[in-house]
Amino acid sequence: MQIDEIKRKVKGDLGKEILFYKTTDSTNSIALKLAEENREGLVILSDSQEKGRGRLGRPWISPPGVNIYMSIVLKPVAKPGDATLITLMTAVACAIALRKITRLDIRIKWPNDLMVSDKKLGGILTELKVYQEKIVFAVVGIGINVNVDTKLLPEEIRQIATSVRNETGQGYSREDIVAEVLCQMHRWYSAFKRMDRETILSGWRSLTSTLGREVVVTAGQETCKGFAEAIDEEGRLLLRLPSGEVKKISSGDIGIPE
Ligand code: BTN
Repeated sequence: MQIDEIKRKVKGDLGKEILFYKTTDSTNSIALKLAEENREGLVILSDSQEKGRGRLGRPWISPPGVNIYMSIVLKPVAKPGDATLITLMTAVACAIALRKITRLDIRIKWPNDLMVSDKKLGGILTELKVYQEKIVFAVVGIGINVNVDTKLLPEEIRQIATSVRNETGQGYSREDIVAEVLCQMHRWYSAFKRMDRETILSGWRSLTSTLGREVVVTAGQETCKGFAEAIDEEGRLLLRLPSGEVKKISSGDIGIPE
């Protein structure tokens, strides 16, 4: 990857400093180690990951030369409860950047999966250091399947995942996508710093494929079916159960009922 090219294209404060690795265990792990003594906006990029991490303790398949694995260090003045908003704003920034470059109809599946044609194109993992009820730093990890040929992925992943190349039939510059994601992140993070919740939530609502339909939510051992009505100001999913009761869900996986 051409880091100078990315730096030239980036507007804003995020990504002025980028560290690039040929391989790492996980860019989030490196960012968590370096966040303390570095400034906000530090970006860790890697060509591949040996132990890429996904949400809910899952692995993130990270082959070399084809995809984007990056982590951004943020140091907002915020409370741990605002972490969901950080993740939602990152999903909005990534979706807008990818829509602009690829023209694909990218949608966000609650809370932060980047989807196209009901298959997953990318994901976000936010990890925090918290001290005395304040965020010391947040590491926002972004994985995007860009040029991977999904035929080469394991069967169980192939059924649920896709890549930009798979959807468009052409290869894309990872540098262009990283630079655009960082530009959009600068814009949406500014809204976060102003605590402009409504801008972020309405941006998210306009891009989601989750609301206004029947869904199945799996959270730990529990599964519930219902109507995905809205998200609240903290980004929780409001699920109307068949009983009429509305359940607030902070994390989980969304599926479509059979
Ligand atoms: C998800 O499960 O949807 C989140 C996936 C996040 C993957 C990215 S790749 C870069 C960063 N480093 C990691 O180990 N994970 C995140």
